[in-house]
Amino acid sequence: MKTGPVCIITGASGGIASGIARELSARDYRLILLSRSGCGDLAEELDQTGIAGSVLVEADMEAAAALAIERHGRLDCAVFSGGRQADILKAYDIAPAPPASGESFSFDPAYLREPFDIPFEAWHANYDMNVLGPMRLLKAVLPPMRAQGAGAFVALSGIEALQPRMPYPLGPNRLALHGFAKLLSDRFAGDGIRINCVAPGLMENAADEFPDGWKEMVPAGRYGAVSEIAATVAFLLSPEAGYITGQTLVADGGVNRNAGL
Ligand SMILES: NC(=O)c1ccc[n+]([C@@H]2O[C@H](COP(=O)([O-])OP(=O)(O)OC[C@H]3O[C@@H](n4cnc5c(N)ncnc54)[C@H](OP(=O)(O)O)[C@@H]3O)[C@@H](O)[C@H]2O)c1
Repeated sequence: MKTGPVCIITGASGGIASGIARELSARDYRLILLSRSGCGDLAEELDQTGIAGSVLVEADMEAAAALAIERHGRLDCAVFSGGRQADILKAYDIAPAPPASGESFSFDPAYLREPFDIPFEAWHANYDMNVLGPMRLLKAVLPPMRAQGAGAFVALSGIEALQPRMPYPLGPNRLALHGFAKLLSDRFAGDGIRINCVAPGLMENAADEFPDGWKEMVPAGRYGAVSEIAATVAFLLSPEAGYITGQTLVADGGVNRNAGL
């Protein structure tokens, strides 16, 4: 029976967040795993709790926080992950980057999507998911964390925010997330609550989205492993990171080593 910290993870049914769930479960965390489909299989595999909900719905975030308190009597941490930008673009009939050969991470001549071909509704949808999504989760978990006098929050971001490139045209939205992490860490650090972001680079779980040649342009010479992001998030949640707040930690194999945050 697990007795460790209690953590909500959103978007946990697959991808990076399911890797975070496996990592935290192995570290004895008690988890509330949320996604639209309910994370049933993963919850069963890890002997944790799943709940169906969307990061777009404030009441669903409140329900996850209430479930953590009901099941475990406390809430120590929360991790935000949501849908990928490619999925948001697809919802607006905008094709993802084709698997063309890439000579740079930037504009690929085989990929003639113009920024203003993308409807403003898609920009709003991405902001709603990747900026307001973390804010909804944070708003729901703050009351129990403040009552306990401690808490740690990590939101997944992405390197497309740091060096915007045409294959990920909505990426600059996420700079707002980094800004909110700074603002809210300033407000709640005195309550013992730490708020950070992790910006993954090109991850192996999305390798089918990336053009040939991109892997070789990563200084590390490979895509990142989900387990590496999971370990980075676990570190930021842990007491070892107790003096780190308001930061965005970039984990990208060296792609953005010169980027200012
Ligand atoms: N993979 C990469 O290379 C990479 C790089 C940089 C940044 N990122 C960022 O990391 C995050 C996760 O990426 P990923 O590759 O793990 O994505 P993924 O494999 O597509 O998984 C996303 C998960 O989120 C859930 N989800 C989608 N919409 C949701 C919603 N409205 N509410 C709750 N859950 C929702 C989905 O499950 P359900 O269908 O059950 O809801 C799915 O399991 C994204 O923000 C992405 O932009 C990824």
